[in-house]
Amino acid sequence: MTIRRILTVDADMATLKEVSKPVEAVDDDLRALMDDMLETMYDAPGIGLAAIQVGVARRVIVMDISRGEDAPREPRYFVNPEILWASEETAPYEEGCLSVPDIFDEVERPAKVRLRYLNYQGETIEEDAEDLYAVCIQHEMDHLNGVLFIDHLSRLKRTRAVAKVKKAARVDA
Ligand code: NI
Repeated sequence: MTIRRILTVDADMATLKEVSKPVEAVDDDLRALMDDMLETMYDAPGIGLAAIQVGVARRVIVMDISRGEDAPREPRYFVNPEILWASEETAPYEEGCLSVPDIFDEVERPAKVRLRYLNYQGETIEEDAEDLYAVCIQHEMDHLNGVLFIDHLSRLKRTRAVAKVKKAARVDA
């Protein structure tokens, strides 16, 4: 497994804005990508990662929302995820993103969603998500369409966020 470089908005905005393409088959090559993505996510550390964040424009997401450092790992894999239904009720959550480091802001999204996706084995799964799971899958599915959580904020907040990441990247360099 390889830890891959995570693309960030200061240098890689054009790639992050790409719309990812559907996966044709869940095969060993795709599982190798998902393994790399999971290790990259744990290393960051983060709770979700879309393939485009490592520069691969495919509709693939990995996630682990288990809480606490000592919690057992609960990796989840999503290939070609779809939202079948979303609640009218919405809920706010303070979101962040590995591609927009050190920026956090509140985003309002449907509180519950029903999902369909292929898992690590390529089986079709349908299930309901709520709470952090619902927040995270909607955030990651946005990435597949080139949408970042800062795109849900005002233009002023978005501009400030990108400027802040760019400034931090200069300082780190
Ligand atoms: Ni993100």
